[in-house]
Amino acid sequence: MGVATPVLEIKNASITFGNFRAVKNVSTTVYENEVRFLIGPNGAGKTTLLDAICGKNKLSDGNIIYHNEGEEYDLQKIKENKIVNIGVGRKFQAPSVFTGLTIFENMELAVVRERDVFSSLRSRLKKREIEDIKHQLQFVGLYEMKDEYPTVLSHGQKQWLEIAMLCVSKPKLMLLDEPVAGMGRRETQRTAELLRIIQNNCTIIVVEHDMQFVKEVATLVTVLHDGELLCEGTMDEVSSNQQVIDVYLGRGGE
Ligand SMILES: Nc1ncnc2c1ncn2[C@@H]1O[C@H](COP(=O)(O)OP(=O)(O)OP(=O)(O)O)[C@@H](O)[C@H]1O
Ligand SMILES: [Mg+2]
Repeated sequence: MGVATPVLEIKNASITFGNFRAVKNVSTTVYENEVRFLIGPNGAGKTTLLDAICGKNKLSDGNIIYHNEGEEYDLQKIKENKIVNIGVGRKFQAPSVFTGLTIFENMELAVVRERDVFSSLRSRLKKREIEDIKHQLQFVGLYEMKDEYPTVLSHGQKQWLEIAMLCVSKPKLMLLDEPVAGMGRRETQRTAELLRIIQNNCTIIVVEHDMQFVKEVATLVTVLHDGELLCEGTMDEVSSNQQVIDVYLGRGGE
């Protein structure tokens, strides 16, 4: 991997909702081209932590520093829509494609959104942008279906469309919340292949409960439990950690 460059430094991050501490003093550094997994039981604070990275919720303590092209950003000081503009892309736990638009139009919207929130969908895309949309749709295997509506897509294909929509904005850091939930083995395998390719140009943080998938794709794994960082290491290291087995893996993952 050469000299590791940090992309994201989470420093003593805590997140509270009223009196409830959903994330407690978590610190970790994610390096360039990693596929870092956040795992842990339901309610561990994984989604809450992703929300803090993309600016959807605020830290009550600590900070999150993001690096891009020599610049350093304190993400707590940047609004959610601006965080997207500095290269942080996010896919949420629930699917969010527009069923009233074709697959291609969903991709166009992703480009336009990235360019300027106030432009209309019908504003002309550059030739280069159209080419990139085609390229990304080919990448996820949906090009042949580009003029259909997303309702024809399988659950897995919808997830891939969302990943393609993220890719057009060329994020430096991609955040994925449970991308293979509900997928069969083959779709999961295909998603693993996609992430391995995306990883060449992008750092990825993934929340996931599918341990086979984690094993196949993870560089490092961070285990959260009750809002605390329980353990961090390679999949082999965390899966032989007795505490991790007790609170999570020994219970069959999810
Ligand atoms: N907006 C909120 N207000 C109050 N409590 C919240 C809020 N968001 C999350 N929580 C609580 O914070 C805790 C962590 O939730 P979070 O969604 O981060 O868990 P998770 O690790 O993503 O779990 P899962 O694997 O089930 O998705 C839970 O107890 C949840 O109920
Ligand atoms: Mg979650």
